[in-house]
Amino acid sequence: MYTFDIARHGAKPELYREIRDAIDAITAGEPDPIANMANAAAVIWQYLPDLNWAGFYRLVGDELVLGPFQGKAACIRIALGSGVCGAAAATRVTQVVADVHAFPGHIACDADSASEIVVPIVHDGRLIGVLDLDSPIAGRFDAVDADGCETLAALLGPRISAVA
Ligand code: SME
Repeated sequence: MYTFDIARHGAKPELYREIRDAIDAITAGEPDPIANMANAAAVIWQYLPDLNWAGFYRLVGDELVLGPFQGKAACIRIALGSGVCGAAAATRVTQVVADVHAFPGHIACDADSASEIVVPIVHDGRLIGVLDLDSPIAGRFDAVDADGCETLAALLGPRISAVA
């Protein structure tokens, strides 16, 4: 069992620092990408408020394939350039979408989703996949979330990049 002393409703930068430290502790020394993505998704889901989906899509060949996540069952394969995840993967730029219904080509996996952030995960110049968070609240994600999630992606890149 792992327990983390994280104050759920503290200031957001501090919350992200604590989530990063928890994910660092739980993935350190573990080479298995699936185990590390699964635990990272669980920690994010437990401690970041107002999410209805949190997880990973991995680059497999030339498309994104569903990875470990928390939330409702989701679409499995996403082409590069398609939807918010495909845009983040194709451009390698974080996508912060305040209103998913206004995003051209948004892929609706859960009708509850109103806003979304997708962060590319790159290691050694190679796209590994994306971290995707959805919220039922419009405008849920801001620049602090983008910074926090990019820090998580930087930590996780080398820890989920091993090829099985
Ligand atoms: N909404 C995403 C698809 C993945 S789900 O949100 C889990 C997209 O448009 O790429």
